[in-house]
Amino acid sequence: MSVLDLFNLAGKTAVVTGGARGLGRQMAIALAEAGADVAICDLLEEEGQRATAEIVALGRRAYFGRIDVTRTDEIDAFIEEVVARLGKIDILINNAGMPSDGLALLDEPEDAWRRMLDTNLSSMFYLGKRVARHMLDRGEGGVIINMASINALVISNIAPRHNVPYCVAKAGVAQLTRGMAAEWAPHCIRVNAIAPGTMLTAQTAASRKNPEIVERIVANTPMKRYGEEEEIKGLVVYLASPASSFMTGSLLVMDGGTTIW
Ligand SMILES: NC(=O)c1ccc[n+]([C@@H]2O[C@H](COP(=O)([O-])OP(=O)(O)OC[C@H]3O[C@@H](n4cnc5c(N)ncnc54)[C@H](O)[C@@H]3O)[C@@H](O)[C@H]2O)c1
Repeated sequence: MSVLDLFNLAGKTAVVTGGARGLGRQMAIALAEAGADVAICDLLEEEGQRATAEIVALGRRAYFGRIDVTRTDEIDAFIEEVVARLGKIDILINNAGMPSDGLALLDEPEDAWRRMLDTNLSSMFYLGKRVARHMLDRGEGGVIINMASINALVISNIAPRHNVPYCVAKAGVAQLTRGMAAEWAPHCIRVNAIAPGTMLTAQTAASRKNPEIVERIVANTPMKRYGEEEEIKGLVVYLASPASSFMTGSLLVMDGGTTIW
């Protein structure tokens, strides 16, 4: 197979959680441009419908479900609807996530801690388990990509803000990825994680309001800039396609060099 054919996703069906905007929207579009039909779920109805229309304009089939990824009843109904409309799921991108509230551990309320772990970590287990079961039943394998962060590896130096609960959740995503990869490799399901550095999306809007934090992040990044949303596109197609056929359980860092220092 020629190398560009390895990246072709024609005939595949992908699900992208949190695909209404930001990195999720970019990944949904990238997968569609590579040939896949794409279902998106998100809390944001209007943005979700807009992203879905962009995929349809690329000539692919698409579906949007407004669900909360922490609600297993809503996840079950969404997966059922995706399979009914698009026939199957070959690729799951566990991307939905929320930013930290910026509080120090001493001030962090327990319910905020639980919400962070449920949204940014447990949701990937809820969806991953159900989609892997579907893949197993079909017997044709599949690909799961979990959105981690460089905060799986390091705690951000964004004082006076803080983000330890976020970092803990993302470290959990890295281990969940390795665990899924080990357990599901015999079923030809590959599972990898992406670890972006600081990207220009809504998630970093609060910290970007503080010029000192921006200056520190840029100074700590050898490439001297934040990542652009679109820069996620190549990596997700690589991981979703046979181009990465011998890769599973990996955490791929994409951070302009931030974690070098
Ligand atoms: N922006 C960064 O610097 C950065 C860096 C590393 C990792 N990430 C991760 O990338 C992913 C995407 O973030 P983004 O930067 O595009 O931010 P974003 O806020 O633009 O996108 C997150 C999306 O997830 C959705 N979402 C949140 N909670 C949800 C829920 N309970 N149910 C359904 N949908 C929900 C949001 O509505 C939103 O559309 C997140 O997991 C984030 O942690 C972001």
